[in-house]
Amino acid sequence: MSRHLTTLDELSAQEFSDLLAVAVYLKRRRAQGIVEHALAGKTLAMIFEKPSLRTRLSFEVGMTELGGTATYIRGEEVGMNTREPIKDIARVLSRYVQGIMLRTFSHANVVEMARHATVPVINGLSDACHPCQALADLLTIHEHLGETRGLKVVFVGDGNNVARSLARACVLSGATFVLAAPAAYAFSAEDVASFGPAWGSAVSHVPDAAAAARGADVLYTDVWTSMGQEAERETRLKDFRGYAIDQRLIALAAPRVKVMHCLPAHRGEEISDAAVEGAQSIVFDQAENRLHAQKAILRLAMADDAERVIAAARATT
Ligand code: CP
Repeated sequence: MSRHLTTLDELSAQEFSDLLAVAVYLKRRRAQGIVEHALAGKTLAMIFEKPSLRTRLSFEVGMTELGGTATYIRGEEVGMNTREPIKDIARVLSRYVQGIMLRTFSHANVVEMARHATVPVINGLSDACHPCQALADLLTIHEHLGETRGLKVVFVGDGNNVARSLARACVLSGATFVLAAPAAYAFSAEDVASFGPAWGSAVSHVPDAAAAARGADVLYTDVWTSMGQEAERETRLKDFRGYAIDQRLIALAAPRVKVMHCLPAHRGEEISDAAVEGAQSIVFDQAENRLHAQKAILRLAMADDAERVIAAARATT
């Protein structure tokens, strides 16, 4: 894994696979009651400009389980580029802690932090992407379907940060990704360019949700109105009518289909209550896997024995 994790674009398929293998390994060892304090004496600074349940808790519990400490910092308190320039925050934090996790509105803030920090910077969600979520998602898909290669993963809804990272994670894992979204919410030309040769083959856009869902191994969605888009809520509710994951869409998918949502969910909007609670739903395993994925990211970014733990994980896979 490269030093920072700002987007999945900076990972090779091998590095992504290593992260998955280490996540599986750490999850198994936790279940066996094996404690390894690989990050003893190390601290992660976590800056949140947006609310969080899963990301905050998974990083905080992950650091504790690895023997380290996590410090929560409210975005308003540090005032990135208002109270103080990011380049100064990055250099000060780098004198105090061994890792920085940042959840921010603007991806440019993540890039700026990584440019000036001398410790690893991990993107805990920006407007561009949510790489930590996508790692947990592929871990969950692999657990439930026994593979990732050749699967059809259909994201129904906004082509947002979660969809973008999931698409990249599918490319890295050999799965096919289909975005089912109205034309106005499809990936941008810049996104399409970033997928390179995968666009049109491994990654595609199908405007009709029912057509996209046919034969899907995974149906995935996220809220239609993300944090910071509240003013667009009424327009989005209209635009996404017909794009909810419900029994109608699930019936069109493959018999073994799994239903996923990064949470929090707006039941009755992008997903029905029955779909969240139904037999095909794996949303709470997905939420749990944020912890195991985060531990793998922290372990490979902040510990001194990345090669050893990858080899140990590979030897037991
Ligand atoms: N899925 C996700 O990122 O959850 P939180 O916003 O609660 O961290």
